[in-house]
Amino acid sequence: MTEVQTALQNALPQHVAIIMDGNGRWAERQGRPRVWGHKKGVDAVRRAVSFCRKLGIQSLTLFAFSSENWRRPEDEVSGLMQLFLLVLQQEVKTLHKNNVRLNIIGDLSPFSDKLKQHIKEAQQLTAQNTALTLNVAANYGGRWDIVQAAQQLAQKVADGALTATQIDEQMLSGCMQMHDQPELDLMIRTGGDVRISNFLLWQAAYAELWFTETLWPDFDDQVFSEALATYASRERRFGCTGAQIRELAMRPIQG
Ligand code: IPE
Ligand code: IPE
Ligand code: MG
Repeated sequence: MTEVQTALQNALPQHVAIIMDGNGRWAERQGRPRVWGHKKGVDAVRRAVSFCRKLGIQSLTLFAFSSENWRRPEDEVSGLMQLFLLVLQQEVKTLHKNNVRLNIIGDLSPFSDKLKQHIKEAQQLTAQNTALTLNVAANYGGRWDIVQAAQQLAQKVADGALTATQIDEQMLSGCMQMHDQPELDLMIRTGGDVRISNFLLWQAAYAELWFTETLWPDFDDQVFSEALATYASRERRFGCTGAQIRELAMRPIQG
């Protein structure tokens, strides 16, 4: 129960994930091309990162490009790829200066060699930073994440290092993306839709969900604060009763 207790005693989430949705509509409303909205979305990313750093949130995970987003028109996909590369080149120094560790999650195999190289260098440069871990999900899908974890374990079984019955939740968790980071506490989605869109399926098992009509380019510290205030006011029960939770929250954490 110690994990439950630790989660309960933190009014501030340790790990926040955001589905940054609504860039396209934001641009369309102003009669601009959708890619303009993605560009403006980068300013909101900067704000969210510095807000998390200021508050002392340990991990921020941003959904930048889903495994399904390849279905979009070619020019939007290539615009997004160019933007990703540009932002990576422009922002890494600042992230490093601010002690932020950058970690890209997702299936990177279809990306260009140039992009892959930049990702590798950015991750290496910032690997030892401790103020905040910024996970950027690129070509990420929650189902893909579970599949790649299953493949790692299947390989161990094939190699004779493990039997199938030894596999448990903890072992599978250990193979998922971000297994080295705090459990996901809060998942935010902007843009008004109430769905997960194949984001962190495994990791969201007990996350609190918060949805806002605000379109991503308009997301600011005030909206973020609203999400955090709602989070702090929720009673997380993890399967227990409310009475058990209130008692646990009062008890000092042991060992
Ligand atoms: C989210 O904004 C960003 C990405 C999916 C890359 P959208 O582009 O989905 O914006 P809407 O939902 O069409 O407004
Ligand atoms: C989810 O948004 C993916 C990202 C924010 C990167 P989408 O706009 O792709 O989600 P759907 O298609 O509306 O569910
Ligand atoms: Mg969308």
